[in-house]
Amino acid sequence: MNPIHIARPALGQEEISGVTAVLRSGMLASGERVAEFEKKFADYCETAHAVAINNGTAALHAALLAADIGRGDEVIVPAFSFIATATAVSMAGAKPVFADVDPETFTINPGDIEERVTKKTRAVIGVHLFGQPFDVDAVRDICQPRGLKLIEDAAQAHGALYKGKKVGGLGDFGCFSFYATKNMITGEGGMVTTGDPTYNDRLRLIINHGQSEKYLHTRLGYNYRMTDIAAAIGLVQLEKLEGFNASRRANAEYFDSHISAKGLDLPKVAPYSRHVYHQYVLRLTEKFPLSRQAFMDYLRGEGVGTAIHYPIPIHRQPIYQKKGPDTCPVSTALSTSVLSLPVHPLLERDELAHICDAVNRVK
Ligand SMILES: Cc1ncc(COP(=O)(O)O)c(C=O)c1O
Repeated sequence: MNPIHIARPALGQEEISGVTAVLRSGMLASGERVAEFEKKFADYCETAHAVAINNGTAALHAALLAADIGRGDEVIVPAFSFIATATAVSMAGAKPVFADVDPETFTINPGDIEERVTKKTRAVIGVHLFGQPFDVDAVRDICQPRGLKLIEDAAQAHGALYKGKKVGGLGDFGCFSFYATKNMITGEGGMVTTGDPTYNDRLRLIINHGQSEKYLHTRLGYNYRMTDIAAAIGLVQLEKLEGFNASRRANAEYFDSHISAKGLDLPKVAPYSRHVYHQYVLRLTEKFPLSRQAFMDYLRGEGVGTAIHYPIPIHRQPIYQKKGPDTCPVSTALSTSVLSLPVHPLLERDELAHICDAVNRVK
C-alpha cells in the first residue's frame, strides 16, 4: 500500500479544463470567473454577498477593516485555532484577546467570552474548527446586546451546518480559505460573505487599493484580489463540495465505528452541528499506552501520515505569550494531546481499514 497522506488535493480534468480556458482567454486577472464564483458562493452560503479574496487571512483582515475595527480596539478570538485567526486582528491594528475553548467540541467557549469582554471589545471571531460549527446562537447572545460584531472564521468549514443553516451566513461576516488542503480549494484563495450591502461595498474597496473609480482612491486598500485562474478552480470545486463533504463524513463515520483502541477520545459532535471533518482529531488520554510522538512515529512506520493541529495554542505563541498564569488551560491541554488522522475524500476503503487496524493494534 502506498503511504497515506494527511491531505491530498482532489482535482480532476474539470479543474484543468477550467484553468486552461482562462489561460486561453488572455484574461488572467480578476474578471468574469471571479464574479461568477462570488455569485455562486453567495448562493451556496445563502448570503446576499460574497467577495472573493486572495486568501483566508486576508478575508479576516478585510472583514475587520470593513467593520471599522483598528487601533485601541479588542477582538475576542479562541486560543485554539490556526494563528491567522489572531494575526488578522493584529494586522488590523487591534488587540486579540484570547478566550478558551470547550473541551468536548474544541470550539470557542461562550462562557469564557463573557469573562473577557471589556469596554474596548468590538468583535468576537468564532472559529468553526476542524469543520464543526461553534455554538453561534450562544455567541450571538453575548454579542448582540453589547453591540459587538460577530465574525465567523469558516476557513475549515465550507458547507458545515449550524442548526440546519450554512455557516458563513450566521454572523456579520463569514471568512473562508481555499488553501490547498481545505474542504474546497483554489491553491491559495478565500471569500468573505456578508448580508450587509454597506460591508459589501467597503470590502470591494479594501481588496482593490481603496479604488472607488479608476485611479481614484478613497480609502486605504490592499491588493487582495483573486485571479480568474483561481476562481476557475473554485467554481468546479464548489460543484464538488457536497460530494467531498459526504466522503469526509463517511470516512469519519467509519473511524467512529472501527477505532476501538483504549485511551483515545474520538471527535464529539454537538447536537447543533453538521460536521464536515476538515480534520478528524483524536485526543490521547492518560490511558493510551504510547506518547503522542511515539504514536505518530509508529503510524508513520505503518504508512499512515498524521499531523498535530495545533501543537502550540495561540496565546502561548512567542508573539502573544504573556507572563503569569495560563489564561486558556483547555487550549494548552489540547495542544499536547490532539492528533489528526487522514480523513480527506480520496481515501479508499482499504486505506481506512488499514488506518483503523494500525491504530487498534496499539497495546
Ligand atoms: C481557522 C483558520 N483561519 C484562517 C486561516 C487562514 O487562511 P489562509 O491560509 O488561506 O490565509 C486558516 C487556514 O489556513 C485557518 O485554518
